[in-house]
Amino acid sequence: MSQAPATSQAMSGTTACILRLHLLSKRFGSQQAAVQGITLNVRRGETIAVIGPSGAGKTTLFRMLNLSLPPTSGSIIFAGSPVASLGPKQLRAVRRRIGSIYQQHHLVGRLRVLHNVLSGRLGRWPTWRALLSLVYPLDLGDAAAALRAVGLADKLYERTDHLSGGQQQRVALARVLLQDADLILADEPVASVDPQLADEIVELLVTLGREAGKTLIVSLHHVGLALRYFSRVLGLRDGEITFDCRPDEVTPLMLAELYGGDRVFGGRSRQADHASAAPAMPLPTTCLHFQPPATAT
Ligand SMILES: Nc1ncnc2c1ncn2[C@@H]1O[C@H](COP(=O)(O)OP(=O)(O)OP(=O)(O)O)[C@@H](O)[C@H]1O
Ligand SMILES: [Mg+2]
Repeated sequence: MSQAPATSQAMSGTTACILRLHLLSKRFGSQQAAVQGITLNVRRGETIAVIGPSGAGKTTLFRMLNLSLPPTSGSIIFAGSPVASLGPKQLRAVRRRIGSIYQQHHLVGRLRVLHNVLSGRLGRWPTWRALLSLVYPLDLGDAAAALRAVGLADKLYERTDHLSGGQQQRVALARVLLQDADLILADEPVASVDPQLADEIVELLVTLGREAGKTLIVSLHHVGLALRYFSRVLGLRDGEITFDCRPDEVTPLMLAELYGGDRVFGGRSRQADHASAAPAMPLPTTCLHFQPPATAT
């Protein structure tokens, strides 16, 4: 693992690549590695969709990216700083700059929407301020603005578990907006909502993310959404990147190879689902596949 010291220039976050992965791997026990030697550069402001079959290693990759799961080998370099070399204080600072949206929202159902949204600020507040905010909501105006942005202006004081699944996912999106993270990670954020709502939420996520200059990495089972809304698409299979290119470079053949057609769910192959979700694509031109680590930061 790289042990280069964190420099002040690196910590200032002025580098063009917000994230660099170098030979990143994760193995659970004696199993085959869930993520195998991924090398990847992510530029600021990119919107990246990660697609791949069940068990491909998407969640494992996301858990390493949000620094909740240590890699077995390889390095993660965030804004120029190898995270393995950071002390606890610097690590906390990096964690604040990474926001996560989960499939299961991770909201507290009994709290009002307002409090769940404000919890996006918790990482920046001392404990006394966080506790105080439960009684006297702080940054109310910011929370209201974030809820307006996701179309829930009228739900500020509603109990969170009184909202629908799609509305709760919007609350999770408002929370991450309030956190004001540089990098937003979303692992299957729309897996539990219907297709139309999934489309609306992904569009909202990408639109708001772009407007705010955020870098987005989102895993999706719906290939059509990945190709429609993102600037870059990564195919992940058996823990390895099989392609890394623009959506207009993704071909049905690449998708067929990615999903393999060997997994059948409820009588339908997933490949069929994904192929039908993808718009017709031209035959392959160039595809970047994965890039070697850049020397420039
Ligand atoms: N905590 C764990 N302990 C042991 N094995 C694990 C653990 N987490 C993941 N794995 C294994 O790692 C591999 C990748 O799993 P992962 O959850 O990352 O896949 P995924 O692409 O997110 O799949 P899905 O699309 O179904 O969510 C699988 O073989 C899984 O069984
Ligand atoms: Mg997963």
